[in-house]
Amino acid sequence: MIKTAIKVAITGTGAALPETRLTNQDLEKMVDTTDEWIITRTGIRERRLLEKGRSNLDLAEAAAVMALENAGLKGAELDLILVATVTPDHLFPSTACLLQARLGAHHAAAFDLSAGCSGFIYALSVGYQFILSGACRRVLVVGAEVLSRITDWEDRATCVLFGDGAGAVVLQPVREEDRGLLCFELGADGTGAGLLALPAGGSACPASAETIKNRQHFIRMNGNEVFKFAVRVVPDTLARLMEQGGVSAAQLDYLFLHQANLRIIESARKRLNLPPERVPVHIDRYGNMSSASIPVLLHEEAAAGRLKRGHLLAAVAFGAGLTWGGMLMRW
Ligand code: ACO
Repeated sequence: MIKTAIKVAITGTGAALPETRLTNQDLEKMVDTTDEWIITRTGIRERRLLEKGRSNLDLAEAAAVMALENAGLKGAELDLILVATVTPDHLFPSTACLLQARLGAHHAAAFDLSAGCSGFIYALSVGYQFILSGACRRVLVVGAEVLSRITDWEDRATCVLFGDGAGAVVLQPVREEDRGLLCFELGADGTGAGLLALPAGGSACPASAETIKNRQHFIRMNGNEVFKFAVRVVPDTLARLMEQGGVSAAQLDYLFLHQANLRIIESARKRLNLPPERVPVHIDRYGNMSSASIPVLLHEEAAAGRLKRGHLLAAVAFGAGLTWGGMLMRW
């Protein structure tokens, strides 16, 4: 753990979810599946889909504007904008740069970060380091995804899982001793890269009539292997986080877990013996929103007034790469 006099806290949160809902009953009409299968295997009841003509940037902007408002800041006061996403508007320019223009954040550096569903935790740790080093004072961290645009709507094994949304937080140095980010645990295992990937569209396999015919512009996932990886890596990451922070599971007021599958969340919750109210869930309403899952959870709990100053909270995510990331903080 980095021991430092500077405390860095989340001073504002925001979220944006598209209006359009796709229920399990809707999916029953699209592929060979059932509401019962989806609920028992994943915990998902419905997910949100971004309307045609809107993009990742629109969601990112809406979440960012809310987070800035809650922090009492203007875009022009930002020093850095980080957007964690696997579904940017374009391979380049970055969504972060497009967002910088929309927010009028002309003093801010801006870049995207790709770490799959762990992207938000990775980006949070990057923002934290920029503030600790003294290089920045006001950092916007966004997790925004439009997974519906890279979902194969003919593949029942994956199309039931994903949803669109965005969450954002503002990071700032604070004076209070009893508040702020405490430590991070980041990791990766590139040997598992093939388990969860978007095969074509990058420079290794550029778009062609062949890649379109082979449906290579959609998410490919070995669900069973990713599931096994998640069940192992979530408790391991949490154990290392708590050891680093010198805290026990019983002391956690909140545990925010990446929303990929309710069974993964429940297995971690039961292992730590935490009551359901300390492990919030929105996968039933939104499905897996990749890097947006955790910031949207944070925003929902903060906006409802349930997160209180001084609460101890942990967050853990895992995803494509393979990657994992965890953080511990005092709200
Ligand atoms: N409806 C009905 N049946 C289905 C469906 C469906 N939607 N999907 C698969 N099935 C069938 C399969 O064909 C299989 O049938 P078979 O036994 O006749 O072959 C059976 O159901 C069981 O399939 P499994 O894949 O073994 O089901 P499992 O219980 O593993 O659940 C799931 C699949 C939900 C995908 C699970 O493996 C999972 O959640 N994995 C983790 C996903 C994840 O965490 N991804 C992380 C990050 S995503 C990112 O980074 C963008």
